Amino acid sequence: MRKLLVTGGAGFIGSNFIHYLLNQYDDVDIINLDKLTYAGNLANLKDVERHPHYQFVKGDICDKKLVDELMPEVQIVVNFAAESHVDRSIGSPDDFIKTDVFGAFVLLETARKNRIEKFIQISTDEVYGSIQDGSFTENDPLMPSSPYSASKAGADRLAFSYYVTYKLPVIVTRCSNNFGPYQYPEKLIPLFVTNAIEDKKLPIYGDGMNVRDWIFVDDHCRAIDFLMDNGEVGETYNIGAGNEKTNLFITDLILKHLEKSDELKTFVPDRLGHDRRYSVDCTKIRKLGWQPKYDFEDAIIETVLWYKRNADWWKQIKSGEYLEYYKQQYQTA
Ligand code: NAD
Ligand code: DAU
Repeated sequence: MRKLLVTGGAGFIGSNFIHYLLNQYDDVDIINLDKLTYAGNLANLKDVERHPHYQFVKGDICDKKLVDELMPEVQIVVNFAAESHVDRSIGSPDDFIKTDVFGAFVLLETARKNRIEKFIQISTDEVYGSIQDGSFTENDPLMPSSPYSASKAGADRLAFSYYVTYKLPVIVTRCSNNFGPYQYPEKLIPLFVTNAIEDKKLPIYGDGMNVRDWIFVDDHCRAIDFLMDNGEVGETYNIGAGNEKTNLFITDLILKHLEKSDELKTFVPDRLGHDRRYSVDCTKIRKLGWQPKYDFEDAIIETVLWYKRNADWWKQIKSGEYLEYYKQQYQTA
């Protein structure tokens, strides 16, 4: 039996990862440590809440005492817990520094003392910053440009330093933009899908020509699982599916699949410091034997359908705290 501490498991990717592991294996036990910030949602895990191999603990990864109690129970740590939204980091960076950097430090330090067998730090392709042509490899310098990506870069290299200095068996992953079920509707795809369903405007930042490389969340989960077994400790792995698209392309695709009017497209002032293009070279993980499984357009259709069928899930979110946040933005009409 492998016992994992999954942090941030009530968020988008973490909850998909927990579903993935419990569907895939009978011999994993999971402790999900999540603070349940605005982005954490136990509804994402409703179907597994009584699963015999799953346990939820509400708490903060910055809480040393709590992390000290949980760490001796597990062999593997997968750290998803983070403040993850770039726009929020521009408005209010404090929690990004606390959770993404200090929280990662608390986990690493406790993992070191408990001789954890593997520590997977979920970093991001945003740590490289923007690239005009070509793609970043794992050895390229980090040039993060938002408080979010800078905090993630801090944790990314801190995790590496624990490998170099203390031989903690760390693996760092840098994945591109995910999409799929249970993504908080502040991120581009779920925001635009749910707005379009409700005939609300789709706020396109700047000229809409920024490029992101999209990966279906299940492919990301499979890549993390693959690296837990096949990745080399002390190494960093880019993860991506090679679906580079402009934001305008994504917007048009969503409108097409929902059969909604072009008139919902609304150009709004650009995000501050908006990275133009992300692109990662995934040769390293592909050489190890992982490759994405999903066709991009099929996965988009599946995702759009999921949001259509699960309106209760996102309508609940798009009230309360969510609305408070968006009232302060220029884009809600
Ligand atoms: P998310 O915002 O949906 O979920 C984050 C989760 O972390 C939430 O459940 C939240 O409650 C929890 N959390 C926040 N602060 C915490 C704390 N102090 N202690 C415990 N739990 C806390 O994020 P996501 O999109 O699922 O991203 C997960 C991870 O993957 C992040 O580390 C992010 O940087 C990384 N990542 C995301 C993407 C993407 O496209 N979404 C791509 C690459 C990497
Ligand atoms: O690249 C991986 C990263 O992808 C993750 O590390 C982050 O956690 C995740 O939030 C995501 O960051 P982005 O900033 O790329 O994602 P977001 O969905 O916020 O924006 C995607 C693109 O769409 C970006 O160019 C900004 C644009 N956008 C976004 C929103 C929310 C708009 O044009 N309008 C919007 O309303």
